[in-house]
Amino acid sequence: MPIMEKKTARDSEVLPKVPVPPLKQTLDTYLKCVQHLVKDEQFKKTKAIVEKFGAPGGVGEILQKKLLERSDKTNNWVYEYWLEDMYLNNRLALPVNSSPVMVFPQQTFRDHKDALRFAARLIQGVLDYKALIDARALPVDFARGQLAGTPLCMEQYYRLFTSYRYPGLKTDTLKVHMNAASSTPEHIIVACKNQFFVLDVAPSNKQLNETEIFSQLEKIMKMAENAEERLPPLGVLTSDGRTEWAQARDVLTKDQTNRDSLALMESCVCVVCLDEPCGLQPRDTNRALMMLHGGGREKNGANRWYDKSMQFVVGMDGFCGVVCDHSPFEGIVLVQCSEYVMKYITGSPTKTAKASTARELLRPRKLLWKCNAHIHGLLTSSGDRLQKLVDNLDMDVFKFKAYGKEFIKKQKMSPDAFIQVALQLAFFKCTGRLVSTYESASIRRFQEGRVDNIRSATPEALAFVKSMTDERVTYTDSEKSKRLRDAINAQTSYTIAAITGMAIDNHLLGLLRISKELKLEKPEIFCDETYVSSNHFILSTSQVPTTVEMFCCYGPVVPNGYGACYNPQSDHILFCVSSFWENTETSSAVFVKALNEGLLEIRDLCNRSCAAAAAVASKPADSGQGASQPKKSGK
Ligand code: COA
Repeated sequence: MPIMEKKTARDSEVLPKVPVPPLKQTLDTYLKCVQHLVKDEQFKKTKAIVEKFGAPGGVGEILQKKLLERSDKTNNWVYEYWLEDMYLNNRLALPVNSSPVMVFPQQTFRDHKDALRFAARLIQGVLDYKALIDARALPVDFARGQLAGTPLCMEQYYRLFTSYRYPGLKTDTLKVHMNAASSTPEHIIVACKNQFFVLDVAPSNKQLNETEIFSQLEKIMKMAENAEERLPPLGVLTSDGRTEWAQARDVLTKDQTNRDSLALMESCVCVVCLDEPCGLQPRDTNRALMMLHGGGREKNGANRWYDKSMQFVVGMDGFCGVVCDHSPFEGIVLVQCSEYVMKYITGSPTKTAKASTARELLRPRKLLWKCNAHIHGLLTSSGDRLQKLVDNLDMDVFKFKAYGKEFIKKQKMSPDAFIQVALQLAFFKCTGRLVSTYESASIRRFQEGRVDNIRSATPEALAFVKSMTDERVTYTDSEKSKRLRDAINAQTSYTIAAITGMAIDNHLLGLLRISKELKLEKPEIFCDETYVSSNHFILSTSQVPTTVEMFCCYGPVVPNGYGACYNPQSDHILFCVSSFWENTETSSAVFVKALNEGLLEIRDLCNRSCAAAAAVASKPADSGQGASQPKKSGK
């Protein structure tokens, strides 16, 4: 559709470039963000280092100038730096540590045929969506919420089915095959019982209909059942640390058969994993766990290929969802695609019936692997490491039902800022301190924009959480309410700064990377203990809202941290809290309990404040006491 193509291309061209914030502004904000999170002595040291860095004629100025030059020469000065720093240089295994998942509602399948019918419709939905993307016919997204109405960059959509993340010994490579669609016949890889099959989606240049997909899936399932022909579970290698997988891949590629199989894997549209029943109750938490790691090698942990951007999971027991490599796109784009596919599945019951004529098709090819003893050893080690990850993940999916976005909006507060402040309160209740916190903020208002960080552990949030928990000092409701408003206002201002390209994390990363490119000695500001700790995100959060019943979740990003993904709805909020069992300081259940308590306490505070304000308003002017009656704090 050339007209659409032009329209979308033009739309994204007019998007502004991500700005480079003023140096002084970033350095001042940095100091403000860290002052209350480090010891006084440490802060004094940091302040001196930052002042020296930002002084006229100092290193900061040189780097800033170079960064501005880079910004002139590129569409997005931070994109490559950010991609490498956030994903490609990270050596940790993709499952749990990096790949987010969408968890679909529990499906009821009477038998495997039901499951395959669902899978066939899902594949049809994916192909439908991909056709829209290929035709550049997706409507342009517009920002909602804060600063609503501006168009957003659509680039991330174009990477959904065209990217592949190659493991590397030092750094990974994200390859995007933009013209794959036009030049080569398209195929999907279907994983079943740890075997991989090539499903040509348009044999003889005619796209499969649902009946045909279903019959091909049935053939695949039969072939996978043949135990004698079963090959080793190669997919488990992709669940390993990236360096380990890169080393194993080097061994694999010595053989032509393996090279051929890898080439097919790396050029597919997506992977569809037909999972065995996992034997667990279909609770939200269990379904989240099965999407995040597949349950290890004893369950479906090897029935995956983590390098591929999109893997759709259809479990015979109705556990379904999507697993994705995070490097090509953000959760918001993943949600759009998942919702489209889910609506397609639930909204098109007639399509199977309509497409009842099926061609006689060749049975799908199975990917072959040549494995020697060395490779068998690598498979065992990868499986062991995956099992450790599986055993270590402490996940708690919590539906907070007392209220949702509407209650918060009625308080004239930003729901996102409110939830962030509540997360700070929960963390403080658990540990008695605040820590460097990451909240992803979309910068898709800009060309090729991805995200920057809202540092939610603001000084105002600290003042508020102290007022809610300090048992030695009694704060009145009006003091607590004021602190709540201050915390929410600070959070909202940071959000607005971040989504307009004025946050500090990308900027500081840019300055660091420019210094490396100039082969300068690493500036002291980046060696400082404060900088290191400020980039250790013990609390890693993000809002991923959905409009269809499903939810997103991910793991913690550091060993002693929490992942907290939330999905605010009008009358409830879904939280997915993750941490690692191995760490004795964290517990997802304890965090969830504190979060629940905190959210209820904030609601009660808001209600009391509203009631007090209403009482004042209804009394004659001279009799007013009311609003700031001293009261004991919550406990
Ligand atoms: N009073 C009443 N209503 C308010 C309000 C106030 N003071 N402040 C905001 N609202 C309303 C908004 O108008 C909006 O209304 P809508 O639901 O009708 O659109 C709603 O509350 C939500 O706004 P808010 O809670 O402030 O947040 P937001 O939607 O702007 O989201 C971010 C903030 C940071 C989450 C968002 O900008 C963002 O970047 N999202 C992407 C995150 C991401 O990348 N996630 C995936 C990571 S993989």
